[in-house]
Amino acid sequence: MDQAQIDKIKDLISYERERKAPPKGFPKFPDLPGKRYTDKDFFELEKENLWKKTWLLAGHLDEIPEIGSYKLWEKTGQPVIIVRKNKNEITAFYNMCRHRGAAIVRKKYGRAKSLICGYHGWNYNYDGDLIGKRDPQDFVDFDDSCRSLHKIKIELMGNLIFINFDLEAMSLKESLGPIHEELQEFQLGSLRLVDQYSYDVKCNWKIAMEANLEVYHVQSIHPKTVHVGLDYKGNVNTFYSNGHGRMVAPSRSYPELPIYGGSNEDPNSTSYHPLPNSSKKQTIDDDPRPEIKTAGYISRTCTQSYNLMPNLVTPVSERGFPILMWWPKSINECVFDVLWIAPDWGEGKRPKVWDSQIKAFNDVLSEDLQFGGWIQKAVDSYVFDGVPLSYQEARIYHWHQELDKIIGLNKVPQDLQVKQVMTDDWIYPNDVERRLDEYNSK
Ligand code: FES
Ligand SMILES: [Fe+2]
Repeated sequence: MDQAQIDKIKDLISYERERKAPPKGFPKFPDLPGKRYTDKDFFELEKENLWKKTWLLAGHLDEIPEIGSYKLWEKTGQPVIIVRKNKNEITAFYNMCRHRGAAIVRKKYGRAKSLICGYHGWNYNYDGDLIGKRDPQDFVDFDDSCRSLHKIKIELMGNLIFINFDLEAMSLKESLGPIHEELQEFQLGSLRLVDQYSYDVKCNWKIAMEANLEVYHVQSIHPKTVHVGLDYKGNVNTFYSNGHGRMVAPSRSYPELPIYGGSNEDPNSTSYHPLPNSSKKQTIDDDPRPEIKTAGYISRTCTQSYNLMPNLVTPVSERGFPILMWWPKSINECVFDVLWIAPDWGEGKRPKVWDSQIKAFNDVLSEDLQFGGWIQKAVDSYVFDGVPLSYQEARIYHWHQELDKIIGLNKVPQDLQVKQVMTDDWIYPNDVERRLDEYNSK
């Protein structure tokens, strides 16, 4: 972020702290129809559109370090194989042989000179081209060039591997727009994988994800953790095209750099800002983890978190940070993935401080997850009809608006539709300018 952007965010933090109501002209949100979490046809619409047409984070380059390394990825139910073709190129295909559909690879990770189907031995190169088969003379008038593995669109953002099942989709970079530029300061191409793990959650995937699209809940469910370190009243939401969003919530020590421990008042508290949980205050210099030197002032003084359509949330930070994702397992169960990336710490094991850092963060995640099952019971009840959202929860509304656009406005049954009340006036950069105009005219 350049200084002009930082200055705008600083003004917006002041604006949010001082405002007595939502910005002038901000729309009233109609209730989100409750059946969006329970309707089987809607679930199918998500499957056929959302998961099929958006960019999905499918891994990190460290998982496929060598030429020929591959990864089997099935988070959306579609069988996908991701292959390291060479140092800089990755390819992705459906993991299904063009002969009779057997899986090309059956292990989660592996390495192969070429991709050979175990059923009858058809052989494919890293581009998915059919380069050999057993007893070719027995296939009459057969054109191998028409039998390549089915391709999947793939793009790297730094070391992060994104895929898209829609071969016509706009590029990831284009989809992310200004966010792609903002993320440059975090040097994603130099960050290595620190850890990854999953939780099974007993609720619709959107219910679990939505806990991470607002900070309205902070005072209630994180009174001793996040709330101690983060001023949710100063949170600035930004709404980007294509359903993406960003929050910037100042830490309690803002505008000063925070001191480890998360709060100036309570040195034993943990902060949502991903810093180590320490029993004594530390200075920034005590941390053995290398930092991302180019990480900007906002990420160092605030929780700067992005939500990327459809299912990714990442609170970026200078020592490394988590990436959170939610995947539907069924209509009322999901898998919640957490993946941590950070600057290279050199040879050997990761610095020990990561253990306490990750534990503290997971404790916060448990707080976030505690209502998932309860809300699922509510949405499944006879009477649950809809969700009224506040201005503070506008990223959730914005996200749902985009979901309907991706499905196709005319394809969503009328009683499940989200009215498109967040017009372009409230999408970046217009949302920023409208609030700043109001702030500066005081
Ligand atoms: S199914 Fe793969 S070679 Fe027959
Ligand atoms: Fe939370």
